Amino acid sequence: MTTSLSLPNSDIDPFSDEALADPYPYFQQLRDLGPLVELTQHNVVALSRHAQVVDALTDSHTFSSADGVGLNDVSNSSFEGTLIATDPPEHARYRAVLAERLAPRSLREMKADIEDRVDRHVEDLVSRGSFDAITDLARAVPVAVVLDLLGFPPEGRDQLLGWAERFGDINGPANERMQAALPAVDELFGWLATTCTRDRMIPGGFATTIHEAAERGDIPEEAVVPLMSSYALPAMDTTISALGSAIQLFVDNPDQWEALRENPALIPGAFNEVIRLESPIQAFSRVTRRTYTTEGFSIPENARVVIFYGAANRDERKYADPDRFDVRRQNVDHVAFGLGTHACPGQGLARMEAHAVLHALTRHVRAWESAGEPRRRFTNITRSLDRLPVVAHR
Ligand code: HEM
Repeated sequence: MTTSLSLPNSDIDPFSDEALADPYPYFQQLRDLGPLVELTQHNVVALSRHAQVVDALTDSHTFSSADGVGLNDVSNSSFEGTLIATDPPEHARYRAVLAERLAPRSLREMKADIEDRVDRHVEDLVSRGSFDAITDLARAVPVAVVLDLLGFPPEGRDQLLGWAERFGDINGPANERMQAALPAVDELFGWLATTCTRDRMIPGGFATTIHEAAERGDIPEEAVVPLMSSYALPAMDTTISALGSAIQLFVDNPDQWEALRENPALIPGAFNEVIRLESPIQAFSRVTRRTYTTEGFSIPENARVVIFYGAANRDERKYADPDRFDVRRQNVDHVAFGLGTHACPGQGLARMEAHAVLHALTRHVRAWESAGEPRRRFTNITRSLDRLPVVAHR
């Protein structure tokens, strides 16, 4: 890959343990260095300011996903043909397969049932007093909602979350975390190909809809497994990350919890604020198909760039006092769900789950208290907690 020699450069490694523990000072350094910064350790150009990240996400002719959105060759060849690694016009054909299933009308049909299940789960948890907000809540809800929706056969599907958690490492640079996660790729694709055949699907699930699209000839048969993986991988871990961060932010900011309890109409904005501050997906990548110029700096064609969603969402050029958690902030233009061609098709579902959880919590929890140190799960491109012990006061 070639890059312009005239760009500011940096030898920081945003994928090191230190950076993953607290990426925000590193993102600040990158934003301060310039709109385009060469990361010398990884031979990529970093986009960390909001304006350039928006440019890249909304221009798939210049910033292509077809060579993969990961930062190493192994993951990019493994995920070839998946939705996220396809450019228009093929992309639209694959994306159309589940568009109806994730549209607002379909989500509305599930809403009351999800809200009811979530409320009962939260009431039960809160009656215990203390619990682990990751295991008992942030993981429990998406697993309960999404596994049935995907409609994979019961044998083996309990491994799906583990594979999805490793997806966040596989797409990083070729470091130790990425190497350790690699077996998950073969395991997942092997399971999808051998166990998730048409005859074994749970009727009515997303996986059945994908098989049916192939039967009708809307997509080629060989697109079935990559497309199933496209939805299986990002559907749970991202939402788990967002729910975990939400609870942690409210434990740390009691005044913001009070504001939300007093006015639950703030919930949709508060959820945007959570994923602006702690973007579940911190980074994905693109390759330039032609020269991109911004603020006097250029990247030539065929350069790999890394898009730091988590850095753009804290850009002081865009947000006043960007590190402050403010549930009243007007922030609909954050990039935590991406933008443009590849903007997250599951965001309606994720929002529905998160809003249901926050509504239930405002009904049942008066105040939060920490019950021990949170533990972070270090993952190359996702931001997640592993443990978050809390006391919920009724
Ligand atoms: C809080 C939860 C979530 C967050 C923060 C999130 C974030 C993202 C982001 C940033 C992208 C853009 C990738 C790019 O720019 O290349 C994306 C794409 C995608 N997401 Fe999500 N996501 C979430 C939940 C979900 C759910 C619940 C599903 C499944 C139903 C899902 C399925 C997908 C798929 C299939 C893509 C690829 C879309 C394409 O390439 O056209 N996501 N997500």
